[in-house]
Amino acid sequence: MARTIVISGGTNGIGKALARHYAELGDQVVAVGSSDEGGRRLREEVPKAHFVRSDLSSLRQTRDLVERLNAEHPMIDALVLAAFRFNPTRVETEEGFEHTFALYVLNRWLMAEGLRGPLENAATPVIINLCGAGQGGRIHWDDLQLKHKYRAVTATMQGARASELLGTAYASERTKYVLYNPVFVATGLHEPFKQPLRGIVRVASAAFAQPLAKAVPPITALIDHPPAEPFTTWKKGKILDRAVDRNEARRFEETIRALTQPG
Ligand SMILES: NC(=O)c1ccc[n+]([C@@H]2O[C@H](COP(=O)([O-])OP(=O)(O)OC[C@H]3O[C@@H](n4cnc5c(N)ncnc54)[C@H](OP(=O)(O)O)[C@@H]3O)[C@@H](O)[C@H]2O)c1
Repeated sequence: MARTIVISGGTNGIGKALARHYAELGDQVVAVGSSDEGGRRLREEVPKAHFVRSDLSSLRQTRDLVERLNAEHPMIDALVLAAFRFNPTRVETEEGFEHTFALYVLNRWLMAEGLRGPLENAATPVIINLCGAGQGGRIHWDDLQLKHKYRAVTATMQGARASELLGTAYASERTKYVLYNPVFVATGLHEPFKQPLRGIVRVASAAFAQPLAKAVPPITALIDHPPAEPFTTWKKGKILDRAVDRNEARRFEETIRALTQPG
């Protein structure tokens, strides 16, 4: 039976490669991205995937998307969270959040929570959160929006740590929550940078990054056969033994719940 796979950030890089894989198998693929350009690219390269345009750094647009997905897809087999943007300088969203925090943290939590219903209706539901898990990173409790000392790496590492905490806090009888760190994959990582860094990252990527063709199979294996444990962390195809402080996870989830309250 055809499955339904929802991929945030499904118009480029790893998300698009997953969209192609599942569309070619005949599954129903919903790929979300923020730009028309990404949508055009997806339609050309993966015509069987369904593109939905939504700026997922916006809480309002995320809520609208979640409502639409609930209405259109009573059953979702896999939710892949891959929407990401590296912001060399601090950007604030219209709703007043630091952009990385909005897209990498708030959006992922709202999507996972908001799609519980359709996920629980699937036979072997799974959430795959593609992130930099297992590489350190901490929550800047005194300055979550990094107003005072913004660095792109700090924002990215905080987002990765947030995924570890929110994955730990996600409680479901059926839906398995998987954090997956693909480590270094050739997906146009140089693009956000200015020269000369852009050139350096491009060369490093060409020399050291994994090609998509190698990076994707361990992820599809987890989607097709989710782990038995409710929550697991993986790095480049290998499971990590990583204990996360449950008290910090609960505290962080409460904080995110409060920040995302509508109104
Ligand atoms: N590539 C790596 O080496 C690597 C390493 C560790 C972790 N990861 C994780 O793996 C995931 C995928 O990485 P990637 O390198 O494949 O990404 P990518 O090629 O940069 O693609 C990012 C995707 O996110 C979408 N996106 C960005 N901003 C968005 C927004 N505001 N709303 C909706 N969609 C948005 C983009 O589409 P639009 O531009 O059209 O919005 C695109 O489809 C990310 O979560 C990343 O953290 C990647």
